[in-house]
Parts: sequence; structure tokens; C-alpha cells
Amino acid sequence: MTKKGVLVTGGAGYIGSHTLRQLGEAGERLVTLDNLSTGFRDAVLFGDFIEGDTSDQELVGRILRDYDIEAVLHFAAHTIVPESVSNPLKYYGNNTCATRRLLACCQEAGVRHFIFSSTAAVYGIPEGGKAWEDSPTAPINPYGSSKLMSEWMLRDLSAATDLGHVILRYFNVAGSDPQGRIGQSTREATLLTKVACEAAVGKRESVAIFGTDYPTPDGTGVRDYIHVEDLAAAHLRALDYLRAGGASTTLNCGYGHGYSVREVLDAVERANGKPLNIIEQGRRPGDPPQLIAGAGRIRRELGWEPRYDDLDTIVQTSLAWERRLLKAAPCA
Ligand code: UD1
Repeated sequence: MTKKGVLVTGGAGYIGSHTLRQLGEAGERLVTLDNLSTGFRDAVLFGDFIEGDTSDQELVGRILRDYDIEAVLHFAAHTIVPESVSNPLKYYGNNTCATRRLLACCQEAGVRHFIFSSTAAVYGIPEGGKAWEDSPTAPINPYGSSKLMSEWMLRDLSAATDLGHVILRYFNVAGSDPQGRIGQSTREATLLTKVACEAAVGKRESVAIFGTDYPTPDGTGVRDYIHVEDLAAAHLRALDYLRAGGASTTLNCGYGHGYSVREVLDAVERANGKPLNIIEQGRRPGDPPQLIAGAGRIRRELGWEPRYDDLDTIVQTSLAWERRLLKAAPCA
């Protein structure tokens, strides 16, 4: 009998492609569905690739049948917070309505397991700068709200049917494949590690620090940076967990400790062997001073243990990928 399939939506994107690669290395039968709006075809290193939208119910229904899909890992989403503020319906359309359509197909086809990419943005600005899975959800932007609404649909669908789910709430994802095959290729990136590495290789003139007067040890914002390889591994653990009959659950994905903007920039300077051109600016609206994961539950429930919990490793892999991108497409 042919092995049951695993559908990865958004498998051509940053986190999706790293997870897909690990799933492929583990011998899974894979199919990626991605519309390539922000992803890259050559990041899909395993399985079949189908270009299309997760909201295309006819197409998704066919994939679920043709590949006898047992599990769906749903990465496909828009993820730029400021854009979600200026164009909220784009985010509700893609992150919420398209997810609803995908879930309807899964229900129809009797898919058993669903792993959903959610975000720490569902917590908004948690008290004390630390959020546990049962902390109040209070998103402060449409990106966070669009993901939280999908969490609710999933919760309710699992209560009503046999679909089991794991919701993974990502904190600040960084780093890239240590073997350099794939990485973060996002155009017009705004994330700190990406921007700082672009500045290090000369793609940007400078990197800004948004706010030096926060109530943190060095005055700059503190975040829980998680290496994308560890995050990808959490998805494989989640799949094992559901296959073994684990109950639907929601898990933070972070290390449980953080680094400041200055610490991140210091690590980039160390990795690059020369100083960055750093410009201190005012706070960016909507940025909490600190956002750290309460990170015990994922270890307890999935037995997940990080392998790359080290800022220098995270930054070195990000920088190595940025150098590769520069070689492939040198600055004019
Ligand atoms: C943002 C989103 C979060 C989302 C995540 C991944 C907000 C409030 N949060 O996280 O919901 O899940 O992206 O998409 O938008 N910084 C600088 N200079 C820069 C860029 C960032 O100083 O050029 C600082 C920020 O002020 C912050 C830290 O670096 O303190 C991390 O910022 P960033 O990488 O943009 O991620 P978040 O804003 O934490």
C-alpha cells in the first residue's frame, strides 16, 4: 500500500521549506502547495510541488484525495505586521478566510492531523513581557487577530470532528539551514536578524535600533529568538505526537529567554568580524519592550529539546545565508 501523504502549504517559504526538508529527510511522502507570492520554488527540496492557493477548494480537494493526505501542515500566510495594519482585509482574507476553506476541505476529506503556524502576536503585549499558552490573548494588530481567529476555528472543528491539531505559536524565528541549502530569502525584510545581516554584507547602508529607552537591561527591545531548525523540528515532533494519539494542544515555540537588539547586533558584528553602521532611532509603534515565551509546555508535551539555543549560532547561519544570496545576486 502506498504511504499516506503529508500536505505542506507554504512549503516554499522560510519556515515551511525548513520543515519540509526535515520531513523529507525523515522519509515522509510530501506535497507542497504554494502560490509563490513570497516563497521560492527552489526552496522546495523534497516531494511534489503544486503552484496554487490554499483557498482553491477544488484544487485542495483533489490534492487531499490524490495523495491520500493524512496530515496538513499549514504555513501559507501573510506575515508582515505593518502591512496587516494598512491592509487588514488582505490578512483576514489569506490568513483567516483561506484557512477556513482549507479546513472545510480537510473535514470533507477526513484529514486526521493538522499543524497550524500561529504566532506570539496573539498575545499582544503580555504582562511582564512573558507569555504562557494560557496567558490572555489580546492581539494588537490584524496579523495577530487573523491568526487567532484561525486558532478558534481549528479548536471548534477539532471539538466537533475527529481532526486533531497542534497550534504552534512562533516567537522570533531566525537562522537558516546549517548546511546552507535554504534560508530566509524574504524580499524587503523588516525582521531584525535579516536586516542586520543584510547590513553586514553591504546590502544596506545601516541598521537602526528602534528605541534605546525601554525598561530593559540595555534599553533596547528583548525578544525570544528561536533557530528555524529547532522550530522545524518542533513540527516533526508535533506530527509524531498526533499520530500517537496526542490530544489537540497549543504550544509556544521559543527558548524561554531573550536577547536585546544590542546583543543581536553585537553577535552579527562578531560573526562578520567588523562593526555595523548602527543608527539609534525612536521606538517603533506597537513594539513591546520584551516578549519571551513560557517554554515549558512544548518540552513536556512533545519531548522537544532545542539543538541551536545559542545566539552566535543563530546569527552565523543567518549571515552565511545572506552571503550566499549576495553571491547569487550581487548588489548593483
Ligand atoms: C514581529 C511581529 C510579530 C511577528 C514577528 C515575525 C510586531 C510587534 N511583532 O516581531 O508579531 O510574529 O515579527 O513576523 O510587529 N528592531 C530594530 N531594528 C530593526 C528591526 C527591528 O531595532 O531594523 C527591533 C524591534 O524594535 C524589536 C526587535 O528588534 O525590539 C525584533 O523586531 P522584529 O525582528 O521586527 O520582530 P518583532 O517585531 O519582535
